[in-house]
Amino acid sequence: MLANKTIAFLGAGSMAESMISGVITAEKMSPERVFVTNRSNADRLKEIHDQYGVCAMPQNELPFEEIDLFILAMKPKGAEEALRSIKDKLYPGQVILSVLAGITTEFMEEHLNAGQQVVRVMPNTSSMIQESATAVVAGKNTSMANVEMVKELLECMGEVYTIDEDQMDVFTGLAGSGPAYFYYLMENMEQVGVQNGMDEKTVRKIVAQTIFGAAKMVLEKEEAPTSLREKVTSPNGTTASGLEALRRYNGGEAITQAVEHAAKRSKEISKELEDALVTS
Ligand SMILES: NC(=O)c1ccc[n+]([C@@H]2O[C@H](COP(=O)([O-])OP(=O)(O)OC[C@H]3O[C@@H](n4cnc5c(N)ncnc54)[C@H](OP(=O)(O)O)[C@@H]3O)[C@@H](O)[C@H]2O)c1
Repeated sequence: MLANKTIAFLGAGSMAESMISGVITAEKMSPERVFVTNRSNADRLKEIHDQYGVCAMPQNELPFEEIDLFILAMKPKGAEEALRSIKDKLYPGQVILSVLAGITTEFMEEHLNAGQQVVRVMPNTSSMIQESATAVVAGKNTSMANVEMVKELLECMGEVYTIDEDQMDVFTGLAGSGPAYFYYLMENMEQVGVQNGMDEKTVRKIVAQTIFGAAKMVLEKEEAPTSLREKVTSPNGTTASGLEALRRYNGGEAITQAVEHAAKRSKEISKELEDALVTS
């Protein structure tokens, strides 16, 4: 049960904060069981402590043996150093979870002692409001009980999907990086509203509600987007005209390319880290 576990975030950036916010808001863990640390930014630790009541401290002050789950939440290039810094302090029952783009379970296992349990996950920043779409992949040594514990934690932050590791790059392109594409879309829609005389605050709400409503239709009606789109497109109507412009300006291709480029970057990060390992 998650409530009896103790977790520690190694990294106190935006992703760690989104996850901390999710778990504290869901009231599944008491803040005394949630630790957070970073490399050097003491002001940031204080800010997170003040906001969420969690235990924030330098890494060397963490009660290491009490922690059930360590969450790597630094930039991918810092993963090796972080794994090295904890490797010999860990005992076999402790689990290492990574949220880092491109860091494979194999990479983690290779940088830890034999048999160490690892889990790779990919949340997104909507964790902050319990609306993340999060993927989970367990390493080869990880017990079912620990996978369930990790899923319980991630469910505080939204919906959880178990996927194969070879799907992680595309998942990253779709859901890890996905919120930013919708923010970009919203920025552009908002601009058109403002240019046409609408108040910025109002148009922001209108655009957000429109995207939210469309997403909710897909989820609640369990209907494919293609079918929903066809239903709302009357011949020669306004929507048909808007969609025609989207096609003319290659809107579909732009979206495909965004996902594929992000997925490719995720793959490249894995390769860069492996190459650095071979040459070091
Ligand atoms: N942002 C997203 O939407 C998103 C989505 C999914 C996954 N992710 C993944 O989440 C990770 C973190 O992203 P972010 O945006 O939160 O980064 P960020 O804001 O740059 O934060 C990185 C944090 O890691 C700390 N850190 C660095 N090295 C460390 C170490 N060895 N031990 C402990 N803490 C260390 C930094 O501390 P100092 O400031 O003291 O150096 C900082 O608090 C990335 O790897 C990314 O792939 C992000």
